[in-house]
Amino acid sequence: MHRIIIHGGKKLSGEITISGAKNSAVALIPGAILCDETITLSNVPNISDVDSLEEMLLHLNTKIERRKNGVVFISSKDIVNKPINKDLAKKLRASYYFMGALLGRFKHVEMCFPGGCTIGARPIDLHIKGFRALGATVVEDGENFIIDAKKLKGTKIYLDFASVGATINLMFAAVKAEGTTIINNAAKEPEIVNVATYLNNMGAKISGAGTSKIKIKGVKYLHTCFHEVIPDRIEAGTYEIIAAAVGKDMKINNIIPDHLDSLNQKLIEMNINLKINDDSVEIKESENIKPCDIVTEIYPGFPTDLQQVLASLMAIAQGESSIKETIWENRFLNLYELAKMGAIINIVDDTAYIKGVEKLTGTEVTASDLRAGAGLVVAGLLSSGTTIINNADFILRGYENIVEKLSKVGADIELEEI
Ligand code: EPZ
Repeated sequence: MHRIIIHGGKKLSGEITISGAKNSAVALIPGAILCDETITLSNVPNISDVDSLEEMLLHLNTKIERRKNGVVFISSKDIVNKPINKDLAKKLRASYYFMGALLGRFKHVEMCFPGGCTIGARPIDLHIKGFRALGATVVEDGENFIIDAKKLKGTKIYLDFASVGATINLMFAAVKAEGTTIINNAAKEPEIVNVATYLNNMGAKISGAGTSKIKIKGVKYLHTCFHEVIPDRIEAGTYEIIAAAVGKDMKINNIIPDHLDSLNQKLIEMNINLKINDDSVEIKESENIKPCDIVTEIYPGFPTDLQQVLASLMAIAQGESSIKETIWENRFLNLYELAKMGAIINIVDDTAYIKGVEKLTGTEVTASDLRAGAGLVVAGLLSSGTTIINNADFILRGYENIVEKLSKVGADIELEEI
């Protein structure tokens, strides 16, 4: 168990380099088992969600070698298709990618319902509906799933919601199916494009990724490939918000600004002194921070994964901001902690209203999930006094070297094992 301790109020200056995207890496790693040759991934973040996936690969007798520079080799030549039990599956949400990947490779999966942050009900009915449409039978008792197919056959699938996880899982299941699969109302997030490119690098025939209609022509064989994880747009957004809150002169490197358009427009609206370059963003000290209103939406709308982080900046804006959360039903738990630090918050159904105050004051708070934790880091940095963030392990699931990155630009922050 870890906690993060921040002595706030310091102005930050310097450069931060963004790591590979968690939400791409956690799909690319299970996806490697679709192929029995060695897959090489680069720019893989060193985060605890990747540690959990490594455990799952080892459980399946798959070899994985992780280098310090983010290069990872995965070889599933000797893979054994074993049930993925509760202890493993519950470690993270992305364990569900083994469903699509094992189904695509062996046409049989036995696994428990995935874990993940407590931000809503998080059903996987769309994944299951898609597997069934491809010809699989699914026996489930709410917790355990046995998914089996004599053969998988390409078909037309319409997703009732443009789910990131279901889109990726169905690409995994369909990539070696007989015939062509069309996913309509597919998710369009950059991570979907990164996964489709990866599968194509292995010899798959996928087109349309990044639009709401993805076409997958089944192939018999997938081969070795080298593939790079895209920069993490949510990590980048988090550091942009930190720079907006407490930056004096900061540069965030290794980003794809297009992926952050919705956030950048809001930061500009909030009067943040932002300069967008080809693959970096510079943020200078900003004064008179204005309030703004956001509605979380699927990509390219404002990402739900950044609303909890932006909430902490809204807490010191000059006026009332609002956040309407449309993706997850339980993603305001951070606000109760923010209120302990002096924020003025009113939650009405799916909308939170945040009235800016002049300053926040450090205190002991608890992270309820990954992005809630990141939001509390922002709050701790801009507060006077000391902030102790309990349950910091949530933060380590998705932010590589967060304490080191922030210390390097002048933050007084430490990670303590308890
Ligand atoms: C991915 O979760 C991300 N996780 C989440 O990031 C992110 O918040 C989310 O996409 C939305 O952008 C990973 O990539 C590992 P969804 P995912 O399926 O795939 C409903 C973070 O902080 N739904 O797009 O699980 C669901 O309940 C995390 O990094 C169904 O109803 O999200 C939700 O309301 C948290 N049935 C909506 O769709 C299903 O079968 C979006 O879910 C699947 C989803």
